[in-house]
Amino acid sequence: MATSASVTSSQTPVVIVGAGPAGLLLSQLLDLEEVDSVLLEARSREYVLNRIRAGVLESSTVELLQAAGVGDRLRSEGMEHRGIYLQWPEERHHLDFVDLVGRSVWIYGQTEVTKDLMRARETAGQEAYYDVSEVSLHDLEGDRPTVRFVDSDGVAREITARAIAGCDGYHGPSRPAIPDRVQQIWEHGYPYSWLGILADVAPSTDELIYAWHPDGFALHSMRSESVSRLYVQVDADDDIANWSDDRIWDALATRLGDGQGGWRLTAGPVLEKGILPMRSFVATPMRHGRLFLAGDAAHIVPPTGAKGLNLAAADVALLARALVGWLRDGRTDLVDTYSDTALRRVWRCTHFSWWMTNMLHRHGDDFDAQLQLAQLRWVVRSDAAAAGLAENYAGLPIGY
Ligand code: FAD
Ligand code: PHB
Repeated sequence: MATSASVTSSQTPVVIVGAGPAGLLLSQLLDLEEVDSVLLEARSREYVLNRIRAGVLESSTVELLQAAGVGDRLRSEGMEHRGIYLQWPEERHHLDFVDLVGRSVWIYGQTEVTKDLMRARETAGQEAYYDVSEVSLHDLEGDRPTVRFVDSDGVAREITARAIAGCDGYHGPSRPAIPDRVQQIWEHGYPYSWLGILADVAPSTDELIYAWHPDGFALHSMRSESVSRLYVQVDADDDIANWSDDRIWDALATRLGDGQGGWRLTAGPVLEKGILPMRSFVATPMRHGRLFLAGDAAHIVPPTGAKGLNLAAADVALLARALVGWLRDGRTDLVDTYSDTALRRVWRCTHFSWWMTNMLHRHGDDFDAQLQLAQLRWVVRSDAAAAGLAENYAGLPIGY
């Protein structure tokens, strides 16, 4: 390590910016193939560990986590679901993904995935800096790209790498480091948001319920046998202060059909609540010179298809294989095709998430509502339509 007057310099094969699921999983997959990396994260470990986000893992994500050596707790504490319920007033239908496409999904919170990956990373002894600031990326078009940052002790550092993985989410510095002349942005907004709660109450359902309702969409999800996660559609500019816990539970009871066919929704203490904006966003290409984007840094989907975390994991599976092929084995074909290959799946999931969102959220006029109901009836009555939803929801194979 060379030290100049004010900057401490070092080198590593790969700098990973961001310790969300994409960055942590990438560092773990690289470590298993004996490629070293340094991880930089703007937040504290505790903050990253306590962020409540996604909850549904596709079977290919589960297989990937297992292959990465972090699948044991998932298999013992996660909940395997055969499918989901789709409902609208007076009707509830189960779609059995295992019967339809031979694949299940698992309920295991992003917080737990993060915990398992952080633990594995610490055991592997790979270098990580949390609480960093002033992160900037340089010389991406040369063969010695560099990341500069200030560590948690206030020391200015610079790490030179052979590749930089931008896994720093929607707000991170990696995507903006790609010049405008080579980057194209694709965006779509939605005029509504989700209000989500985490509740200290056993789920009132064995599998997730996605509900269309004239008042707006609702979703009953869960985190464990004793903790539920529920969402209601609200206006995009709504304020959480307008939603008391009682008002939220009343809306959930109405939209989820409490009392219909003898089904009851059990309310309980709200542990956490917040409003999540919805957007579709894709930045192309996902590689510029020595910078490779993965996960939310390159794309955002609305949560209706439960794809965000799964898509981040699928990017990283491809990226890990490509970087190992290049840095360890000297082949460049996989890094050269990374962006195009990843984007095939990104656009498939972007379409699926948009389609699920449009089918289930109340928007437009009464004509639109009739079209949504016609679509829902078709999905539950046609094996071909149901299999299409199941194939996308339970997850396409890695490398699709
Ligand atoms: P992130 O998890 O965003 O990780 C990026 C990391 O980079 C963060 O830790 C961030 O602190 C760090 N970072 C940012 N800037 C810097 C910097 N300058 N330097 C270093 N590090 C930096 N998906 C679902 O499927 N279902 C859901 O219910 C769901 N709920 C969500 C709720 C919220 C509030 C959000 C924001 C997302 C939700 N998602 C959900 C999406 C899902 O959580 C993401 O798709 C997933 O986290 C993507 O992982 P990632 O590692 O790519 O990005
Ligand atoms: C969740 O449990 O948080 C969850 C589940 C399914 C979704 C979105 C979020 O589609």
